[in-house]
Amino acid sequence: MKNDSINFAANIIRSGGLVAFPTETVYGLGANALNPCAVAKIFETKERPSFDPLIVHISSLEDVFILTTSRSKYIKILADNFWPGPLTIVLPKSKIVPDIVTSGLPTVGIRMPNNTIALDLIRTAGFPIAAPSANKFGRISPTTAEHVKKQLPSLECIIDGGPTTIGIESTVISLQIDGFTILREGVITYNDLLKVIPASQIELIDNVEPASPGLLKSHYSPNKPIFIKGKYIFQIDPSKAGYLSFYNENTYGYKVVELLTKNQNLKEAAVNLFSALHRLEDSDVEYIIADQIPEDGIGVAIMDKLKKASYKYSIKALNKGQ
Ligand code: TXA
Ligand code: MG
Repeated sequence: MKNDSINFAANIIRSGGLVAFPTETVYGLGANALNPCAVAKIFETKERPSFDPLIVHISSLEDVFILTTSRSKYIKILADNFWPGPLTIVLPKSKIVPDIVTSGLPTVGIRMPNNTIALDLIRTAGFPIAAPSANKFGRISPTTAEHVKKQLPSLECIIDGGPTTIGIESTVISLQIDGFTILREGVITYNDLLKVIPASQIELIDNVEPASPGLLKSHYSPNKPIFIKGKYIFQIDPSKAGYLSFYNENTYGYKVVELLTKNQNLKEAAVNLFSALHRLEDSDVEYIIADQIPEDGIGVAIMDKLKKASYKYSIKALNKGQ
């Protein structure tokens, strides 16, 4: 049964179509990374601007060296320590990678996901798979097949692998000659990376702004306003609000409370973050208040998502003088 669905999905990939599939982080919207027309469908379906490059997913270490011209010794060290897993390495791209995948950048982001369905799909398709998160651009990332269906209802093939185990996107790093620079925070932290390779001393002077489009200020947004508690002073009517709680304190009176973790465990909070946001978005609250998360370890990545989710709403409210 499982093989049937993998074969079905792999055939779609081979014939230039799109498949949503689980990874350990979030669900991806995949296409054959080496087929520019197939990749174009990803941008169209997601309504994603063409300046935001895609991550290419592989199932074996040898595939990296087809996609990049780099032979840095750090690639193998990183792979041995973190692959398969939630780490994307941005490297100089080889000619085989179509420009549409990298949005014209000379580099490509590569990752080996730690999910059997994803790895089977890549192997069976016989191609590396370009895949962003399977949501409309700028919206909440999907951690279940239902989340994908909600945002991309006309998609022909969604492989349901149950809820993802990590819950937030991979850490994205750029590999320089002398070490790494973080482009997007994730559950693999700066200190985790530092244990195995040095941090780069080279300042990233990039003519693209921001250095990684993943650093856009607004992203991951629910379709109702979300504000971070304590960041700005707002008049809150808890009876109309949903509360995304980390500390499980002062939750009384809120219309809906989503507890991210029972004992302030950051890993658990990351796993639950996007599903909780999806539930709050689907509930009948008018707006969402989120606790500030301690910006320590994985907390840095979680707060980064919350800041981006709330950015456009906070700016609007501030402009209104609230
Ligand atoms: O966990 C993940 O990484 C998920 C799963 C599906 O693998 N994918 C994901 O893809 O989050 P996406 O497209 O939502 O985010 C990819 C991020 C973007 O912020 C993009 O700007 C950055 O990676 N990125 C990709 N290629 C890059 C490159 N060549 N240079 C700089 N940033 C790059
Ligand atoms: Mg995304």
